[in-house]
Amino acid sequence: MFSAAPTVYHPYLNGVYTVLAGLYRLGVQPTEGRIEHHTFAFDHTYPRYIAAKVAARTRALHEYYVLAGLNPELREQVLEFIARTAAHDSGGVLTWDGQTLTNEALGWAGTLDLGRGTLEALRHFAAPHAELVAEVRPTDALDFMAMNVQEDLSVLAVHPGSGTDFLAAIHVLLPEKWNPQDKVGRDFAAVHAPVAGSGPMIATAPKLIGAVTQRGPFARFVWGVTPSGKLDHHPNLPPEDGLTDDPAQFFLRAERQTLHGFPAQQGALFTIRAYLYPLRELLDTPARSAALAEGIRTMTPAQLEYKGLTRSRATLLDWLDRRARLEP
Ligand code: HEM
Repeated sequence: MFSAAPTVYHPYLNGVYTVLAGLYRLGVQPTEGRIEHHTFAFDHTYPRYIAAKVAARTRALHEYYVLAGLNPELREQVLEFIARTAAHDSGGVLTWDGQTLTNEALGWAGTLDLGRGTLEALRHFAAPHAELVAEVRPTDALDFMAMNVQEDLSVLAVHPGSGTDFLAAIHVLLPEKWNPQDKVGRDFAAVHAPVAGSGPMIATAPKLIGAVTQRGPFARFVWGVTPSGKLDHHPNLPPEDGLTDDPAQFFLRAERQTLHGFPAQQGALFTIRAYLYPLRELLDTPARSAALAEGIRTMTPAQLEYKGLTRSRATLLDWLDRRARLEP
């Protein structure tokens, strides 16, 4: 149904780990040499992402989907944008008629009331991956929309009176070791406080919030190295068993994030698409191994700790250095 291979990104390639905004103008500035226009990426890993999202919501939807004062005007614009854009980006597998989103891969069609933010009707039909969502009962329109895309979704809003920003909605079923319940309703500074070395970025928060709500759209990338091949790392999950110490089995977890502003409603939609690439396949040239090693060397001890790499740093660098020298 979706036959494209997942896009391969190399956000570590400049050899420096940074905690910066790093915003690209979507559709204008090239990312890794190509200009991208899409918000939602659909590829042959689609069933795996939907299955991971279903497993997370079955465990505890309320730990992943949280709301705090999402105003109806912003909600309506965001929902309409997601439905229209997901249909466009899906290349015809999803269709949107202004009221009903039909998904020919998952075999369901949801009729939304955009103003009320509700899912008014849900019809199931035969389709290649219909079994994945057979038991899913979306609670509202945003929940339904999130179950049709591989991305996770959040909505940032600016309080009209005070001008302070806050996260009005988080629908993140595949988080990288953070808990949406800790972040909802909070401002940029509070959300990013645990990120090691985020002080300078947080100091520019008003400018950043202005840019993402008033201008854009933007894309940005985040990367880390992990022994886990799983997508959902909610901190409430039990520790993962049997994680390897062998860097040859590690993954690069890259996140492609997009930001679409709604100036009249003073908010923005934030999407996160997580990619997991086995290092052995991703680092197919000595230069790539060398760049990743360089990037890890630029992390401070606090950043290594934040990224979960304190213990594995030495063996990982040894493995990368040997690969960079083309040694076995
Ligand atoms: C202008 C927009 C934004 C910028 C420039 C930005 C930047 C960053 C950076 C640099 C990091 C550290 C990444 C790393 O290396 O691990 C980060 C982490 C994070 N960001 Fe953002 N971000 C933005 C918007 C958002 C939004 C809208 C959310 C809403 C969910 C969000 C949620 C997070 C979370 C949860 C983390 C991890 C924090 C933790 O571990 O507790 N960010 N962000």
